[in-house]
Parts: sequence; structure tokens; C-alpha cells
Amino acid sequence: MTSEPLGVGIVGLGRAFMLTLPALVGHASIRIAGAMDPRPEARARFENEFRTRSYETLEGLLGDLAVEAVYIASPHAFHAEQTIAALEAGRHVLVEKPMATTLADCIAMADAADRTGRVLMVGPSHGFDAPVRLAADLIARGDLGTVRLVTALNYTDFLYRPRRPEELDSQQGGGVVYSQATHHIDVVRRLVARDLRSVRALTGDWDPERSTEGAYSALVTFSGGAAASIGYSGYGRYDSDELMDWVSELGQRKNPESYGAARSRLTEGTSEPEVVLKLERAYGALGIDDQPDPAAFHEHFGFVLVSCEEADLRLTADGVWVYGNSSRIFHALPPPDMPRSAPIEDLVRAVRFGRTPIHDGRWGAQTVACCDALLRSSREQREIFLSLSGRDQNQTLSKGVTQCRD
Ligand SMILES: NC(=O)c1ccc[n+]([C@@H]2O[C@H](COP(=O)([O-])OP(=O)(O)OC[C@H]3O[C@@H](n4cnc5c(N)ncnc54)[C@H](O)[C@@H]3O)[C@@H](O)[C@H]2O)c1
Repeated sequence: MTSEPLGVGIVGLGRAFMLTLPALVGHASIRIAGAMDPRPEARARFENEFRTRSYETLEGLLGDLAVEAVYIASPHAFHAEQTIAALEAGRHVLVEKPMATTLADCIAMADAADRTGRVLMVGPSHGFDAPVRLAADLIARGDLGTVRLVTALNYTDFLYRPRRPEELDSQQGGGVVYSQATHHIDVVRRLVARDLRSVRALTGDWDPERSTEGAYSALVTFSGGAAASIGYSGYGRYDSDELMDWVSELGQRKNPESYGAARSRLTEGTSEPEVVLKLERAYGALGIDDQPDPAAFHEHFGFVLVSCEEADLRLTADGVWVYGNSSRIFHALPPPDMPRSAPIEDLVRAVRFGRTPIHDGRWGAQTVACCDALLRSSREQREIFLSLSGRDQNQTLSKGVTQCRD
């Protein structure tokens, strides 16, 4: 055991890194120890700002003894291979959501963590948001009764933010399911705190110019009888932040008058290819000092209402309303110190103090299994059951990873 800061290497210096950067830099027990990215301009900026080495290849980064753990924030397609390589090189891993885009890859990743005895965590995701954790804690006290139903809605402009081609290609894990339903599923799993049972879903592919899953509606059921209805549209029309008092996903005040901004930015006033526009929001074009003002509110993933036996709970960006039979009480949260600090704290606790994180490899694999089931349910127009420990499944599955069952 050491009290030295954990040396973290970054794999993929893109948009996700920009979002997690403040929490990494702001944590006293983390030291940014290196990075890997194919883009020379991002590497040059990183070396200059962090005064540490960067590499063009993962092998280079994993050969650097200052790197004890890696935060993998590369595109989805690389998560599995890079996670397994890092674990086998003796490094702990925090991998972005989705953990991977096939259940087989997720299982291989979780197995590699078991085999090597290293920490594997999946995140950040909105399952870590402070209002979600507060609501889960209130439910776990027991006096509100068990969860019966969760209603969760998020209407965003996801599809019209600048995208890499593969982010709009369903065959490569594009569309809103692996990128956004992973958040929704993590949120409802934290609240219900029971095993996933089945999914019945419909997905929508409504813009031929950007043909992929851009919307879904799903009923996710859990052992014990609870169900969660999750609905999402990324088509940039209605904005459900209206239901969150005009606080954005990242906890910032939002101007309702900026209606349609994502679509118009994409189509007007620029001849730049979309991938170039996307990089304008990534590390490289932006740097450590290009952070928005500190968020006054907590991050959220849209409207969430939890119906328990004795009360309803509504999550807001600054706390949780509990609606009982004769009174309603607001449980206020203090403003956030730092966005996305919870997964970084969990990583430090897991590596330095041996605490098993909730969002470990098996957790991430179950969330991906639920995404697979969502897509399959829509395709086959039927309910898909997820099995936790079928007798005919191999040992890995019996250890707790859910897979689809006919
Ligand atoms: N948790 C969140 O809220 C959140 C937000 C955004 C993105 N993400 C996730 O982060 C991942 C990256 O998405 P993004 O939006 O940051 O993409 P991005 O395009 O902004 O960044 C990807 C970065 O990875 C680099 N890269 C490309 N190939 C690579 C490779 N083989 N190895 C290492 N780096 C490579 C690119 O040069 C780029 O710097 C995705 O899996 C996405 O789902 C999560």
C-alpha cells in the first residue's frame, strides 16, 4: 500500500478526456503520468501542458513505468483490445462507456481483470451522478419501500452534434444505444439495485441523412418485479432539459432561446468536414484552461421519477424530491466541488484501498448486455430475457454477467 498519487496514463485525448480532465487534475491522489493518441497536435499540447511524455502507440505508454493505471477514452472500437493489453501489462483500467460493443468483448475484458488481479472500472457514466446516488441511498434506507417503477426520459440533440462516421454507423456501435442508453441503464440500475431481467424495446431511425438508431423507448424489467421505462430521442427538437429547470446535462444553466443550435451549427456557416468540427470540442484544439465556468448544478441524464411502495422520488440537478402520502420533502445536495469526481474517487479507492467498485467489469458487461437486448428486442419485435446464471453457460457467465436468452 502506498499513499503516492496514482500515475494515470490517458488513452485517447478527445472530447471525453476534456470532460474528465478537471476531475483527474483536481484529485489529490491522481497524477497525470502520460498519454497516447495518434494525433500529434494533441500529444504536443499534452506534453506542453502536463510536462510529461506522450506516445503514438499503446505499447509505448504501457512501457512507461510511471503509468500505474490507464483511462481509456478512445473510440468504442478500441476499448476491448486496449483494456486487455493494459491489464495484461499490469495496469489498472478505467474504460469509458460503452465498455465495448459486444458482450463477448466485455466478458473477455472482465476475465482479463480477474486473471491479472487488476482493477477494471467502467465510467464515467451518469449512474455516478450525485442525485442518482442520493436517491439510491434514500431508497436503500428501506422506509420508502422497494422500487416499483422508474420513468426516465431524455430528449437531446445528440445526433446533430458533430460526429465521427462510425458514431453514425450502427454496424460499428454507432447511434444512441451504446453511447446513450448505457447512461440510462446505469442510472436505473443504480436506483432499482436488482438484477436485470428482460427488455422490450423499439428504436427509431428517422433521419435518412444520419441513418442510425437516434431514439428508443424501452421497458426494462428487474428481478423482484420492478420495471423501468426509458425513453430517448437525439433528434434535437424537444429538449427535456426544460424538465430539469433548464440545467444542462453537464450541470450548467442553459438558455432556452438557443433552440436548434446543434442542427444549425452543423449545416450553416462552415465547409469543414464533420470530423474536423468534432475535434474542435476535443483536447488539442482545447486545453487545460478551456474549461467552462464551474457548474452550479450536478450533472444529470434527463427527467427521472422513481415510484417506490411508499413514495415517489424525482431527481433534480440539485437534489431529490420525495413525495410521500401527506408531505413532500426536498433533500438538497451541496453544489458540486468538481464534475465527474465520483468515478475518479472510486478508482483511487479500488486501486489504493482494495474497495470493489460498483461499476466494475461485470457491471459494465451487464449494461452492454442490456443494450444488446434493447436492439434485439426492437429488431425481433419481442421481449428479450437476460439470464444471469444459466446452467448451460460457461463459468464466466455464472459469475454474474448477463446475456440474452431466448
Ligand atoms: N462518459 C461520457 O460522458 C462520455 C462523453 C463523450 C465520450 N465518451 C466516450 O469516450 C469515447 C471517445 O469519445 P469522444 O467523444 O471523446 O471521441 P473523440 O473523437 O472526441 O476522441 C477520440 C480520441 O481518441 C483518439 N484515438 C483515435 N484512435 C485511437 C486509438 N487507436 N487509440 C487511442 N486513441 C485514439 C482520437 O485521436 C481522439 O483524440 C467513446 O467511447 C465515447 O462513448 C464518454
